[in-house]
Amino acid sequence: MRVLVTGGAGFIGSNFVRGALTDRYPGFTPDELVVLDKFTYAGNPANLAPVADDPRLRVVRGDICDPAVVKQEMAGTDLVVHFAAESHVDRSIAGAAEFVLTNVVGTQTLLQGALEAGVGRFTHVSTDEVYGSIDEGSWPEEHPLAPNSPYAASKASSDLIARAFHITHGLDVVITRCSNNYGPYQFPEKVIPLFATNLLDGGQVPLYGDGLNVRDWLHVDDHCAGIHLVATRGRAGEVYNIGGGTELTNRELTTRLLEITGRDESAIRPVADRLAHDRRYSVDITKISGELGYRPSVPIERGLRETVEWYRANRSWWEPLKAG
Ligand SMILES: NC(=O)c1ccc[n+]([C@@H]2O[C@H](COP(=O)([O-])OP(=O)(O)OC[C@H]3O[C@@H](n4cnc5c(N)ncnc54)[C@H](O)[C@@H]3O)[C@@H](O)[C@H]2O)c1
Repeated sequence: MRVLVTGGAGFIGSNFVRGALTDRYPGFTPDELVVLDKFTYAGNPANLAPVADDPRLRVVRGDICDPAVVKQEMAGTDLVVHFAAESHVDRSIAGAAEFVLTNVVGTQTLLQGALEAGVGRFTHVSTDEVYGSIDEGSWPEEHPLAPNSPYAASKASSDLIARAFHITHGLDVVITRCSNNYGPYQFPEKVIPLFATNLLDGGQVPLYGDGLNVRDWLHVDDHCAGIHLVATRGRAGEVYNIGGGTELTNRELTTRLLEITGRDESAIRPVADRLAHDRRYSVDITKISGELGYRPSVPIERGLRETVEWYRANRSWWEPLKAG
């Protein structure tokens, strides 16, 4: 089986690639795994270093918006797992053009390439942010999409284009919508690695608004395990929520990071809230649990502690990224 992983040098994509090449997913043994990545600021060859010598891995530096590259790499592919995206909400508020280009046009280019190449299955990695914000309860997959940030809107657009390629052209598409991820190799602009590395350096952490925005934190290993289940056993044309981590307010999350790093509340620097900051995300995971037997396995206490320890032990990975 030949697998094409877009964005495989980023945080979640590289976790999936490392897992796929180290037998983390039972019965899933690609003969060839191609990473197609543009290596933006978020793509990093070091994320693939643990599997760089695996003869099944081929890394292609290319843009998912480039139809020629996409055509070349889609040929002979059985399974696409599409992670490549501009992924940081704050950057999308500062400027949305790259988000529309990569997330919308890039996804459409890949879907067209997959259709023309006769790819067996296209797994589109979407996000729970497409649903908007929810005060109580959790979203089932059929909940209407109401994205609030330019990032979320670009992801909702690509999510719907993926669905449309299934309905219109019969392309075998599956879509995942996951909650917030954390773990090693996450670019230190995102809240957990930013806060952890600031605290390890004796610095302060910028806490948005009243700190009461709620996120469901899921370890990246659990997200990728869910993606593997959907990619291999999900029903064509279906959407599967992935989540079931731990819901925490940003203040609760910060308190846990302060405890792990041995710092106190004086390290918190309150800052003006993010524009259109969604109050709470919460996905209903009944479907993936019932149909595919998905269960998150990493408890937040262990996951957060191990993640902070990883950043403590891997300064050579993140220091150049923060300096740059
Ligand atoms: N991080 C989360 O909490 C989370 C949660 C749910 C869903 N997602 C989705 O998962 C996917 C991966 O997220 P991440 O956090 O690993 O992102 P990331 O920013 O760490 O990685 C994105 C990767 O895509 C590559 N890329 C960007 N533009 C490209 C282009 N035009 N052509 C080819 N490659 C390109 C980058 O170089 C990078 O390697 C995204 O689609 C994101 O929307 C993320």
